[in-house]
Amino acid sequence: GLPRYVLGIDTSCDDTGVGIVELISSELAPDGVRVRANCIWTQTVHAQYGGVMPELASREHVERIDGVMADALAEAGLQVSDIGAVAATSGPGLVGALLVGLMYGKGLAQALDVPFYAAHHLEGHIFAAASEDNLEAPYLALVVSGGHTHLFDVPEVGTYILVGATRDDAAGEAFDKIARLAGLGYPGGPAIAEAALRGDATAVPFKEPLQGQKAFEFSFSGLKTAALLAHKAGAKPDDLAASFQRAAVHVLVKTTRRAAEAYGRQTVVVSGGVAANTALREAFNQTNLRVVFPGKGLNTDNGAMIALAGAAALRAGRSPSPLEAGATAYAP
Ligand code: KG4
Ligand code: ZN
Repeated sequence: GLPRYVLGIDTSCDDTGVGIVELISSELAPDGVRVRANCIWTQTVHAQYGGVMPELASREHVERIDGVMADALAEAGLQVSDIGAVAATSGPGLVGALLVGLMYGKGLAQALDVPFYAAHHLEGHIFAAASEDNLEAPYLALVVSGGHTHLFDVPEVGTYILVGATRDDAAGEAFDKIARLAGLGYPGGPAIAEAALRGDATAVPFKEPLQGQKAFEFSFSGLKTAALLAHKAGAKPDDLAASFQRAAVHVLVKTTRRAAEAYGRQTVVVSGGVAANTALREAFNQTNLRVVFPGKGLNTDNGAMIALAGAAALRAGRSPSPLEAGATAYAP
């Protein structure tokens, strides 16, 4: 039979995440998986630099991973010997940071003599949402985070067809950079969302990027440049935040809708850090699509989503990864 508890580790960027999921049944039913623990150490050392410092991230993962692992076991009320499979992110991400969780996961699996799965970070983000709401493929998936703005068609579990992506900055990166230039703080997403509540979304005109393009591509560098010019021209930070957020939300929803129509999908999964954005959720909920978001704590990087990807791999009968599986900055 399948193992009951799957542990997942994500150290792809600046969060040390360890999660544990329980497989309730052996059928491919999303309600057969329950998140039992989701523990995260979010690194704050990068705030002073306004961006993630890779070497500092790696070192902090090394310092924190034992503690986060202990927290996750305690949260689930389990002993380490209860773990029946281990999954860890192998890419994409910062290689030095990835290696910490990947090596830790391999060592743990080896010591426990249980299967090990090298997981794709984006598949983890997708499963963070797809495991909610009894969701079954086919669906369209929008992964929108600090590193990615990717649209996938998912005809079945394990098959990801890239429909479109950003040709420059990721959406979350634009939130972060604009928050920084407007002096709103880091990380930028929540800061922009909060400032936007006080601002006028019509104050700063943003031209819609890549309008009229056929491909399902995104571009956020134009918005970033427009924000810089508006800032120099004296736009109020709150107005800038509200106007930028409106423009970004609009293009994300519009492009996803066009893709869903082109691929004949009625269901869309929206995940990644930016999926925590309330304005984005409201705009998606106003479409006639069935839109599924990750549950609380599962939007931004975390270990539970990697455990969910591992659980799905087990369910699909995929063979475990070889222990020499390496970390990759740009995973295909
Ligand atoms: O998924 P994630 O934790 O890490 C990556 O894989 O990149 O996403 C982090 C990104 C950051 O850019 C952050 O500013 C953004 O998600 N973010 C948000 C919100 N919360 C986090 N963006 C918009 N609105 C939010 N509420
Ligand atoms: Zn991520």
